[in-house]
Amino acid sequence: MARITLFGATGTLGAHVLREALHRGHQVTAVVRDPAKLADSAADVVRGDVLDPHSVADAAAGQDVVISAVGPGAGDPEVLVTAVKSLIGGVCTLGPEPLRPRVITLGGAGSLRTPAGPLVRDQAGAPEALRALMNAHGEALDFLRTVPVEEVRWSCLSPAAQIVPGERTGTYRLALDDLIVDEDGRSRISAEDLAVALLDEVEREAHPGRRFTVGY
Ligand SMILES: NC(=O)c1ccc[n+]([C@@H]2O[C@H](COP(=O)([O-])OP(=O)(O)OC[C@H]3O[C@@H](n4cnc5c(N)ncnc54)[C@H](OP(=O)(O)O)[C@@H]3O)[C@@H](O)[C@H]2O)c1
Repeated sequence: MARITLFGATGTLGAHVLREALHRGHQVTAVVRDPAKLADSAADVVRGDVLDPHSVADAAAGQDVVISAVGPGAGDPEVLVTAVKSLIGGVCTLGPEPLRPRVITLGGAGSLRTPAGPLVRDQAGAPEALRALMNAHGEALDFLRTVPVEEVRWSCLSPAAQIVPGERTGTYRLALDDLIVDEDGRSRISAEDLAVALLDEVEREAHPGRRFTVGY
């Protein structure tokens, strides 16, 4: 059983992560801006803000892992960069390992390499509306890669290109920086299986100091 602090539990993907973590018997503290949104949750729910390193440190103290499934919603995607810097800054105030929890973030698919060569965000036809989001996720990952794993045991999970309505199959493939595509050339994962992969990383720590991706 891991002690997990989860930011973004009220979001689309964070809700699946919360469900999967509770299903596996982990002890979850969900940090939300409005606790009323998770009034009926089996998790411990506390008020906090991922953009405030003090808030991160308060929520991360004594925990094994801090997960961030935060997203900008309709706001400025650059908030993703501020968030990851705040997460790392916050846990770094907690003293050396083992006092510092691990940090696992949900990233984007834009910085993954396509089978044809270019990154997802650079390929012809990449959606212009998502460009700022993809760039912000890329910048957040670039920052994480400057953080020595000896200082913070971080990992970043980039989903497949498409989150599809689906089910929890419990089966997926893993890669590092290469987009995973199926035999039809589609890059897909369900939100349920994305959550499975994320909790598998919590339990196995297979990618310390790495970005990795999942897909069918
Ligand atoms: N959905 C997809 O297809 C997809 C695909 C690939 C990657 N991703 C990435 O995965 C992440 C999650 O995506 P999503 O679709 O689940 O996002 P979402 O539904 O928009 O949820 C965003 C979450 O972030 C929280 N949040 C925002 N700012 C916060 C702050 N300052 N402090 C604490 N919590 C904060 C929100 O909490 P409130 O309830 O307080 O607003 C909400 O729980 C995003 O970074 C997204 O880009 C998503």
